[in-house]
Amino acid sequence: MEAIIQSNYAAMSKIAAQIVAELLNTKPNAVLGMATGSTPLGLYQELVRLHTREQLDFSRVTTFNLDEYVGLNANHPQSYHHFMHEHFFQHVNIPPHNINIPSGTTSNYPAFCDWYEKRIVECGGIDLQILGIGTDGHIGFNEPTSSLSSRTRLKTLSKQTIDDNARFFDRRADVPVYAITMGVGTILEARKLLLVASGNGKAKAIAQTVEGPVTSMVTASALQLHRDAVVIVDEAAASQLTMRDYYDFIYAAKPAAPRGA
Ligand code: PGA
Repeated sequence: MEAIIQSNYAAMSKIAAQIVAELLNTKPNAVLGMATGSTPLGLYQELVRLHTREQLDFSRVTTFNLDEYVGLNANHPQSYHHFMHEHFFQHVNIPPHNINIPSGTTSNYPAFCDWYEKRIVECGGIDLQILGIGTDGHIGFNEPTSSLSSRTRLKTLSKQTIDDNARFFDRRADVPVYAITMGVGTILEARKLLLVASGNGKAKAIAQTVEGPVTSMVTASALQLHRDAVVIVDEAAASQLTMRDYYDFIYAAKPAAPRGA
């Protein structure tokens, strides 16, 4: 796993966007895995800027979102359908039929989950999956004790996630209790993983992810099993990493490193 520490949120978002842009420049029909939450907002803003100012083209891109709340229809202001449209899709040129987001209102969740998994495979698999991380170490809505082999399915949110996400709803009781989420196993099949995290509140989860044991108690720690996972964090989120100097040394030395190192 590669850990890249940047001085602040803006720098973190920019580096993350550059990695996405490099992929699109080499593979214009790439399949992107998208994440919601406050953290990837800066990354999406930078991608929108690259699209508007530097002609970064999304016309052949396909996307798959990680998750959606159960019970919120696509127009609900807190649905992830709405979030993605507001913050990203309406600003770039991804054909609407190439956009895939789990349904929070299907009448048959198991069938929908199977279809979602098959659709990812039919599209050639995910080239790059963007990830945030919960304060409880979740990726997607794979809460602590989720199987590290899990596939797209329904999950019950943890109390900590409900508390964390209550800030977006009028009342805590309005936060959905269930979500549909890609599994950890689904996420690990993406060819590249790009996790972004910012702020002190994520410092413990990031230390556990990068340096802790692989455990379903911190599902992001499964990134250690992936051959091409990059974690980009700001100073605050990096503050509990014990090998921090080494990560900085690797990153500084990288341009001179032999190819493939
Ligand atoms: P956040 O959410 O970016 O809003 O902190 C991250 C997550 O729960 O995955």
